[in-house]
Amino acid sequence: MTAITCVDDLRRLAARRVPRMFFDYVDGGSWTEQTLRENRQDFGLLHLRQRVAIDVSHRTTVSTMLGQPVAMPVAIAPTGLTGMVHADGEILAARAAQKFGVPYTLSTVAICGLEDLADNVEQPFWFQLYVMRDRQFVNDLLDRAAAVECSALVLTLDLPLSGHRHKDARNGLTSPPRPTVRNLAGMLTKPRWCAQMLLTRRRRFGTLVGHVDGLDDLDGLARWTDSQFDPSMDWSGVRFIRERWKGKLIVKGILDNADAERAVECGADAIVVSNHGGRQLDGAISSISALPEVVAAVGDRVEVQFDGGIQSGQDVFKAIALGAKGTYVGRSMLYGLGALGERGVARVLEIIGNDLDKTMGLCGVNSVDAIGPDSLIFGNPLSRMRPKPTASPVVTK
Ligand code: GLV
Repeated sequence: MTAITCVDDLRRLAARRVPRMFFDYVDGGSWTEQTLRENRQDFGLLHLRQRVAIDVSHRTTVSTMLGQPVAMPVAIAPTGLTGMVHADGEILAARAAQKFGVPYTLSTVAICGLEDLADNVEQPFWFQLYVMRDRQFVNDLLDRAAAVECSALVLTLDLPLSGHRHKDARNGLTSPPRPTVRNLAGMLTKPRWCAQMLLTRRRRFGTLVGHVDGLDDLDGLARWTDSQFDPSMDWSGVRFIRERWKGKLIVKGILDNADAERAVECGADAIVVSNHGGRQLDGAISSISALPEVVAAVGDRVEVQFDGGIQSGQDVFKAIALGAKGTYVGRSMLYGLGALGERGVARVLEIIGNDLDKTMGLCGVNSVDAIGPDSLIFGNPLSRMRPKPTASPVVTK
């Protein structure tokens, strides 16, 4: 196998190892995928300020997210169907995260259930909540998350209904996959994935099965999501959850200042600037371009975190420079998982950590707190290239 030196190497390997239906689910975005692309492209618009002759021998990426010590300011984002990308994927990813020293967030629509994950990992994890129509079920979920000592609740607000994803619709995405000729062919060409899937009992939405009606004959993920998720959920719902959940509350899916203000008023401890990885409202602005305004609006009152397009430590550095206190990786983690299981997730974290450390060194900073707007250079590179007047202009007659 060729050396794995970046997240894209893991993506390529995952594309070979994960059945098309699940690889596409991870890799794709909604509609034209404009927002998905811009999440990545807009990082490229930001330039780093190279600084030299500064003692950077004492640098560290250690930081905190919501007061929790972290080896670097990166958490694992909640991702649906993780256990379909690799058998027992949530357990493997959570173990890799905990060994590395970063938080793991379990999705409501994960394959491994809340209690099951808690039984299989050493430390508390964060739990992500989608609000379902059945509020009693939501209440029970909050109790269950508290019972397994989840250390934070991540409330996702940008999926009141699912964005249209062409690839998932074409692939007829279901979990477990429906045994059509196409799906069977797709799976049989991935023998490693199949063998591991046959060995696990985790193939359905572990937190939901047995608790939500109609889940046994799941008929297309997007259709099911639209029938179960509550599109009437509004800020009063956020307040209700704030009152019910005694631990830290992170509100995810904020792209707009007005919404950031409302989240703060509702008592969020942190907000995540996110467009759901370009999977929801295609045509929305990139997460990185939304970040500075949200930080300016509420950054003095709440911890602003960032999610969207991170594939390297340089991306993390740029988000921190624009005011994020912490960041999330979802898709990148899944590429590692699909490629190499737990080892692949560990490799993603290692790559991002190393990149961040080196970038800090080359920008002349020793600590995450020292990364700031001064670490970046803004403005159009072309306008910087215009020759400047010299200090003592040549006098011509
Ligand atoms: C779920 O979170 C999804 O984006 O599919």
